Amino acid sequence: MLARSSTSGIAPMTDPAPAFLALDGLSKRYADHVAVDALTLGVAQGEFISLLGPSGCGKTTTLQMIAGFTEPSGGAIRLEGRDLVAVKPARRGLGIVFQSYALFPHMTAAENVAFGLEMQRVPKAERARRVTDALALVGLSALAERYPRRMSGGQQQRVALARALVIQPRILLLDEPLSNLDAKLREEMQIELRQIQRRIGTTTILVTHDQHEAMALSDRIVVMNAGKVEQIGRPQDVYERPATPFVASFLGKTNVFEALVERGADGAAAVLGTVRCPCPPHLAGAGHVLLTVRPEKIAFADEGLACRIVSRVFQGTYWLFIGETPAGVATIVCQNDGAAQPGEGESVHLTWRADDAALRPLSGAGA
Ligand SMILES: Nc1ncnc2c1ncn2[C@@H]1O[C@H](COP(=O)(O)OP(=O)(O)O)[C@@H](O)[C@H]1O
Ligand SMILES: [Mg+2]
Repeated sequence: MLARSSTSGIAPMTDPAPAFLALDGLSKRYADHVAVDALTLGVAQGEFISLLGPSGCGKTTTLQMIAGFTEPSGGAIRLEGRDLVAVKPARRGLGIVFQSYALFPHMTAAENVAFGLEMQRVPKAERARRVTDALALVGLSALAERYPRRMSGGQQQRVALARALVIQPRILLLDEPLSNLDAKLREEMQIELRQIQRRIGTTTILVTHDQHEAMALSDRIVVMNAGKVEQIGRPQDVYERPATPFVASFLGKTNVFEALVERGADGAAAVLGTVRCPCPPHLAGAGHVLLTVRPEKIAFADEGLACRIVSRVFQGTYWLFIGETPAGVATIVCQNDGAAQPGEGESVHLTWRADDAALRPLSGAGA
C-alpha cells in the first residue's frame, strides 16, 4: 500500500521533478469543436484531484483520454515518465467508476468485484482474499452474496468502487460517481470516499460539476470552462482567491458590486455609496470597477454600505439575506449563533475586511 503524500509534499506546477501523472498540452477536437484545449496538469502520487466545471466543459473527455477510451488530438499523457497514450486501455492499470454503476446484473457483489482479478488470472485463493478486503473497505462485507438489483444505489456504487480498487489501480478515475445518489447519501459517500482514498493512498482523479463535492474531497481542484483550465489550486485557494470571474461565480455565490474609482488625498479608492475601499494602482484610472465579496464575508455594522433587507430566509445553520444597496443587490450569509438578526424591510449597513474583497475592471477581464 502506498503512503499518502502530505499536501505540502505536492509538487507545484513549476516543479522540475516529473509528476506521477503528467498531462501536457492535452487536446481533443471533434470536427471544428475543441472539447479539451491544451490542458497541462501534473498530478502527484497519492493526490486527490478534481476536474470541476459546468456540463460540456471537457471533464469526461479528459478522463476518457487518460483511461484510453478516447484518443487525444494532441499533447501527451505520461505516467511515471512513460508515455501512456501508446498503452492499450486494459493495460494502463487504472480503476474506473462511472456515473452509472454498470455492474453485471447476473453476478453477486463478490463476483462483480472478482471479475477484474479473474481477467488478470489472479489465483483463486488470493482472489478470494482480495475481494473480501475490497468489500470490507467499502463497508459491504455483509452483502457479498447479494445481486445488484437487491441493492440500493449507494450500495451498488460501493460495489463499483470496490471493483475498481480491487485491482490495486495506479490511478483511480471517477466520473460523477455520486451524482445519481440523493443529497444526504451523496454527502455520506463523499466523506467515505475521502476516508477510503486517504487510507489506501491511491492517486485519484474525480470528475464533478458539484463545487461542494470538489471542495470537500480534493487536495487540488482543476476548474475548467469551455475546454480550458481556468485555475488549478487547493480548494481554499480557488475559493478565496479565484483567478478569474468565472471561477469566482462557479465556486459558490459571490456578490458583485459596482464601484467608481476616485482619486483622493489617500490615493485611489473604489467608492460604493459612502464606502471607500483601497484600490490597487493598476485600476486607478479604471473609472467603473466591480468589487466581489463572498456572502459569508459580509457582516452587519453601524457604518458601511447602506442596505435595505428585502428578504430573510432561515436555513437552519445559517441565515440568508437578500438586500438592496446603491452598488447592487447584496447576498449575505450569517451563522445562526442565536443572536438577533435584522428583519425584512430593515435598514442596515454592510462591512467586510479589505482582504476579503477583490476589485476587477468592469470588462470582467483580469484578476
Ligand atoms: N464523441 C463526441 N463527438 C462529438 N462531440 C463530443 C463527443 N464527446 C464529447 N463531445 C463534446 O465535447 C464537449 C465536452 O464534452 P464532455 O467532456 O463530455 O463534457 P463534460 O464531461 O465536462 O460534461 C461537449 O461540447 C460535447 O458535446
Ligand atoms: Mg461528463
